[in-house]
Amino acid sequence: MREKKRNLTKNKAKLSINNKTYEFPIYKSTEGESVIDISKLHSIANIFTYDPGFTSTASCESKITFIDGEKGILRYRGYDIEELAKKSDFIEVVNLLIYGDLPNNKQLKKYKRLITRHTLLHDQIINFFQGFRRDAHPMAMMVGVMGALSSFYQDTLDIHDAHQRQEATRRIVAKSATIGAMAYKYSIGQSFVSPKNNLSFSENFLHMCFSNTAEEYKISPILSKAMDTIFILHADHEQNASTSTVRLAGSSGANPFACIAAGVSSLWGPAHGGANQAALEMLEEIGTSKNIRKYLNKAKNKKDPFKLMGFGHRVYKNYDPRAKILKNICQKVLNHVGIKNDPILKLAIDLEKIALREKYFIDKKLYPNVDFYSGIILRAIGFPPEMFTVIFAIARTAGWTAQWTEMIEDPIQKIGRPRQLYTGNKPLKYGKNRSKKNTR
Ligand code: ACO
Repeated sequence: MREKKRNLTKNKAKLSINNKTYEFPIYKSTEGESVIDISKLHSIANIFTYDPGFTSTASCESKITFIDGEKGILRYRGYDIEELAKKSDFIEVVNLLIYGDLPNNKQLKKYKRLITRHTLLHDQIINFFQGFRRDAHPMAMMVGVMGALSSFYQDTLDIHDAHQRQEATRRIVAKSATIGAMAYKYSIGQSFVSPKNNLSFSENFLHMCFSNTAEEYKISPILSKAMDTIFILHADHEQNASTSTVRLAGSSGANPFACIAAGVSSLWGPAHGGANQAALEMLEEIGTSKNIRKYLNKAKNKKDPFKLMGFGHRVYKNYDPRAKILKNICQKVLNHVGIKNDPILKLAIDLEKIALREKYFIDKKLYPNVDFYSGIILRAIGFPPEMFTVIFAIARTAGWTAQWTEMIEDPIQKIGRPRQLYTGNKPLKYGKNRSKKNTR
């Protein structure tokens, strides 16, 4: 393994085990917490660290995204999310995440053209879709078709070829919107709508979802801006579950399409990207502000599996800055589509207000996360809840491909292989001790 130059602190971490003391270097980060390098721990002390859920473990070095969870700060490549949401657009953000700095006009124009030229899918993918049940969740189609791209685009599977890697990232970002729109059309029994090269990424996605063979969808600049903002806000979020899944899958040398399909799978869970669908469904179930107390009591009850969806975050112990931006654009979008007094938005605002006054939520530092308000906007644009996580996945292809590229290009990258605390049986003789349990 090649060595890397690090920004070392003067101090070293000391660990004493059985009267022996071991020293470990501490690396300084540009911002945020330093890390103790324990990579040699096992070889020198024959012991592992134990950290379920990686709550204290940095799994990699990265220059892409910075989060200060206490202050509620999110930056892509050093740029505040608020500024990017206001001044940039999704494809410029993709370019920023992948290449590390903002593109100049010429570079951006070229990049947009390249992404646009990759939005079409191989015609045979239509047959692939036809194998799905119509009532399948669109995320099931997203996982399947994303993985299947590796069978269609075999000229970009060589991860050691920089050109192929770049081409694969463009294909993944561009085609994810087409796949997402096709999954939607398939689930509602309509024909697929081809992408249009004269539209922006977000306009094109709305067009592919809402135009049909009889009628062209009129794209409103307010809705396409809201769509673009949602894509920007979901583009990356450092080493979350799905990104870590992409990195771990990629660490074995798997092809990029397979790695991104693994990321889509991880995102689907309700504790992660699936929370946007779950949050809207929860608000619909609560129904009215009169029921808030009952549901807050359920959320606080340890014996009840109910959680306030769209609330809480592993890293943010303050308001998620993405939720703040989305809350601010909710009303604008609702007004635009003619929803004057949306009972669901009123309920969400009331729920947030009441929860943030409760000792339970204050003590545990639980605030609305990105998934709390995004569903209200997406529903107003016209998407059913099943599409919310698909939209998250389309946006996150930006971060996944950037993080995958960074990992492949890291000179000290090696296969991810965590260890375990084994608490199973000691050696047994085969044939004796057959099961007496009746649970299988
Ligand atoms: N409602 C009620 N209680 C909660 C909630 C919630 N939404 N979130 C956390 N808590 C409680 C936990 O029960 C736990 O209580 P305890 O200390 O008494 O055991 C404490 O707060 C800490 O929570 P953890 O689950 O340990 O925190 P963790 O970092 O592991 O989980 C997570 C974070 C998964 C996001 C959690 O807050 C959650 O499940 N939220 C609801 C689902 C959600 O909105 N997910 C989207 C996250 S953002 C994203 O992925 C895009």
